[in-house]
Amino acid sequence: MLEDAETVALRSLCERTLHHNWLDGTRAADRVSFAYTRPSPRHYPWQWYWDSCFAAIAWRHFDRERSRSELQTLLAAGRPDGFIGHTIFWTGPPRDLRRFTYNIPSRSAPMTVSIQPPALAWAWRIAVGDPAREPQIVRHHQWLAANRDLAGDGLIWIVQPDESGLDASPQFDAIWGRHVHGRPGFLRLARRNRRLGYDLRRIHAAGGPVCCEVLTNVLYGLSRLSLGEPSLTPTIVERMYDSATGLFWPLARPQPQRRPALTWAALSPLALPDLPEAIGRQLVEEHLLAGEQFWLPVPPPSASAIDPAFSLRDSVLPGLRRYWRGPTWINSAWLLWLGLVRLGYREQAEELTRRIARTVLASGLREYYHPYTGRGMGASSFAWSTLVMELTEADPLAALSYLAG
Ligand code: GLC
Repeated sequence: MLEDAETVALRSLCERTLHHNWLDGTRAADRVSFAYTRPSPRHYPWQWYWDSCFAAIAWRHFDRERSRSELQTLLAAGRPDGFIGHTIFWTGPPRDLRRFTYNIPSRSAPMTVSIQPPALAWAWRIAVGDPAREPQIVRHHQWLAANRDLAGDGLIWIVQPDESGLDASPQFDAIWGRHVHGRPGFLRLARRNRRLGYDLRRIHAAGGPVCCEVLTNVLYGLSRLSLGEPSLTPTIVERMYDSATGLFWPLARPQPQRRPALTWAALSPLALPDLPEAIGRQLVEEHLLAGEQFWLPVPPPSASAIDPAFSLRDSVLPGLRRYWRGPTWINSAWLLWLGLVRLGYREQAEELTRRIARTVLASGLREYYHPYTGRGMGASSFAWSTLVMELTEADPLAALSYLAG
């Protein structure tokens, strides 16, 4: 495994970074208090929904009170009907180009009107306690079920690629075409969706596209299990698993003309503790570990390395990045690692831990990494990369995705 000195150095780097990124205060407009971890102080100063969930999970290794404050701040941002936005502007609204690319209904809006993968109840379960005892979390799930379950089968749908957290992932190219994230057409899509109030049903009725994305539903499923609700896993399998390829694929309306690009999201059901074992083994043996698709020197790349869309060029124009098209992110490594641990791939889980830990030690806590060389890419001092500690200081409950009993 890792040398003790490596574990100690990692721990101290993570602790320093979480402290450095922490911000607390009160919102000028209404004196509501906030306390959260900025994803990266220079590049991402506000509170991002799923970043906060990941940060809260990492904080529990140092200070559980911070985990609680982080998630309570997300709840404090929520509307009375249970909606919580993708980004919350505690310190004031965006002023630069982001005014146009972020999903905000007006200049003074306190948060976006779009969502991010609902990982809050799962993060609460891992780092704080029982989410079912928190009426606001229960309400948040009621909002999701009432507003984002298009087909009435429990799965939730997104109206823009960035709602998945996987912004420019090539899995969306076949679905949104010229309107994908990071392309000029995205501005038109955001404008149209703003006009339709980011309402899934209105957007669907207007011709879409709308998408039922795999990772979004995996995290939602973990949150539902955390709340003690019936498992979504059988529905995820029934609707998104394709036995011919042994992979999970997004659904979309209108249905795309071609099969979406293969990305790590196709493997993300590995994080579900009740995924049928045979499906999990097939994901691991035929895809995660097989050939040159995902098991690169720093695994897993965000897209399969043999997919034509795979790319390590992350910047299109100065200041404009296209994310999730090839480089490796630590949250993905962690979620797939959960499956390796559960299914008993001990050696490979340890190998993944070693490679990710040594990459972070060599390149620092960056937003994402070059999957062949480990070079750090994107923002620096990136909070959720501290999830590396979930691998290096493994919780005995990891094999159950932290959902005991
Ligand atoms: C990028 C990522 C998104 C993340 C945000 C803040 O947009 O694609 O997932 O939430 O940065 O870190």
